[in-house]
Formats: sequence, C-alpha cells, structure tokens
Amino acid sequence: MEMLKINNLHKTFKTKGKFVKALDGINFSVEKGEILGFLGPNGAGKSTTIKTIMDLIRPDSGNVEIDDVDSRMPQARIKIGFMPENPQYYDTLTGYSLLMFTASVFGMDKNFAIKKAWELLEEFDLKEAAKRPIRNYSKGMIQRIGFASAIIHNPEILILDEPMSGLDPMGRVLFKKKLKELNENGATIFFSSHIIPDIEDICSRVLIVNKGRVVADLSREEIKYSTTSGFNIITKSALDLQGVNFEKISNDLFKSYCKKEQLIELLEKIKETKIEIVDIEPVKKDLEDIFVEIAGKK
Ligand SMILES: Nc1ncnc2c1ncn2[C@@H]1O[C@H](COP(=O)(O)OP(=O)(O)O)[C@@H](O)[C@H]1O
Ligand SMILES: [Mg+2]
Repeated sequence: MEMLKINNLHKTFKTKGKFVKALDGINFSVEKGEILGFLGPNGAGKSTTIKTIMDLIRPDSGNVEIDDVDSRMPQARIKIGFMPENPQYYDTLTGYSLLMFTASVFGMDKNFAIKKAWELLEEFDLKEAAKRPIRNYSKGMIQRIGFASAIIHNPEILILDEPMSGLDPMGRVLFKKKLKELNENGATIFFSSHIIPDIEDICSRVLIVNKGRVVADLSREEIKYSTTSGFNIITKSALDLQGVNFEKISNDLFKSYCKKEQLIELLEKIKETKIEIVDIEPVKKDLEDIFVEIAGKK
C-alpha cells in the first residue's frame, strides 16, 4: 500500500531571466512501513520535491498523494511530520513553546501534549534549554527541536530534508536509532541526504536522484554492497611488498588501500609474510562515481 505517491512532477524556476529545470518528471512512491532514502548531490532537486509535497512550492505539472489523498488536503497533511532543510522557527519561541505550538496546530489534547513535549525534550537532551528562546540554540539543538516538533503528533509519515546535516557523529547515531524505533512503531519515513553512509544503515530502499529525475531505485543490500570501491587493510607492521603502499597511521598500525578486485591477491601476499591483520574496512565510492556508473549502464 502506498503512503506517498509522487506523480510526474515538473518544475522550472525562472530567476533573472534564467530558467532552471529543478524537476524533470519525477515519479516514485513510498510504501507503508518503508524507510526510503532520497539520495542525490546538491542541486539534484531533493528539496524542491519535498517542498512540493509540503505545498511550499507549486509544481508546473504533476501532483502528490498521501495515502491516496492530494497532499494539500487537510486529511493528508495531518498525517505528515515534516522537518525542512534549514529549520527556521519564530526565534522568540522557546523550545517548549514550539512543541506546544505544533501540538495545537495538529489539534492534540493539551494535557497529553504537555506530557509528550517534556518526554521529547528529555529524550533529545533539551530539558535545560526548554524555556530558552530558540535564537540562542546551536545548530545541533535547532535540528533536535525541529525533529521533536516533527514527531510530537505521532505522524503516519515523516518527511525530512537532510535531517542529519547539522548533527555531530553521536547525534547521527542517536538520530538513526530514533528513526528505526519510529519505523518499528509503524511510521513510514522518507528522508533526503547527499551522504551515502547516512542512508545505507537504516533505509529499506534508496532512490538516487540527479538533475530532477530518479535515476536508480536500489535495495538496501544493493546500496550497501555495490557502493564499495575497495578496502583499507590495517596491519601491525609495514610490509615490504611490491606495488603496495603502506601508510603509518599510529605507532604500530599501518594502512594500505586496495581496489575491490585486488583484495584476494593482497591478502595472499600478506598471508605469506605472517603479519597480523588488525582490520579490513570497506571504502565507499563517492556519489559522483556512482552516477558515472549508472550513466554508463544506461
Ligand atoms: N527558489 C528557487 N529559485 C531558483 N532556483 C531554485 C530555487 N530553488 C531551487 N532552485 C534550483 O533548483 C535546482 C534544484 O534545487 P534543490 O531542489 O534545492 O536541490 P537539492 O535539495 O537536491 O540540493 C538547483 O539548481 C537550484 O539552484
Ligand atoms: Mg536540498
């Protein structure tokens, strides 16, 4: 069953006499219960797609449905939790009042909303800052309050534009954990990113978007395993092996990179030396390489 359906969106911006085609016939759908990643480089059309879903931009043609209803209708909107790319809230509001404001927009019972707001403030480590104006929040804190505000009404579908961009590594881990938990409790999740590792850990499916079009639709496994370009081999000492370059990374650890197809050969060479391998870590292709590959296949 489809929770979100994007039907042939086109959008051309006109600025200072110049035309920019942001969406060039974008089509896809998100099934109920999925975590779908929307992956693409800067300028690919991710935010324009998301703004169109949220009715912040009117497309030149095409439409969007949420649970079979036009996404601009109140019955559709009440099912959505949304976080924009660079959240900007009324900066005199406090974190707590922002959550209460969102709760009232969605018609939540006031006492229930108060309870939920404090639970979220606690969970996102914003309890101390709850009564301070948002203008004094750091980027990471704004990201966290924005996320709390997107989920306070327990939405059926979460739509998030680059939700991890302002977070530190620990924040990313916690954020991904929370997304998984919401998904296990029934929420469908659609979020954009231009960073592969942010997507591959948690998504059940990934759409790759470029130049206003969906250019690939990949399963979690495909994105995880077909985007490895090679491996870093970490060893206890540097080896004197022909054609292999070891880099010292700490007192007694050395790293060498090999391409995917050379792994076996390198491991065999190392085996002969009896030197201890500490770790083998995959190295990911960057998005550019993946686009070149996709273009090549087509
Ligand atoms: N309001 C706007 N006016 C003019 N051009 C825009 C506007 N919004 C986006 N664009 C252009 O549309 C293209 C897609 O942008 P966007 O959807 O923001 O990409 P992404 O979110 O994938 O980085 C880019 O070339 C961008 O410069
Ligand atoms: Mg964007």
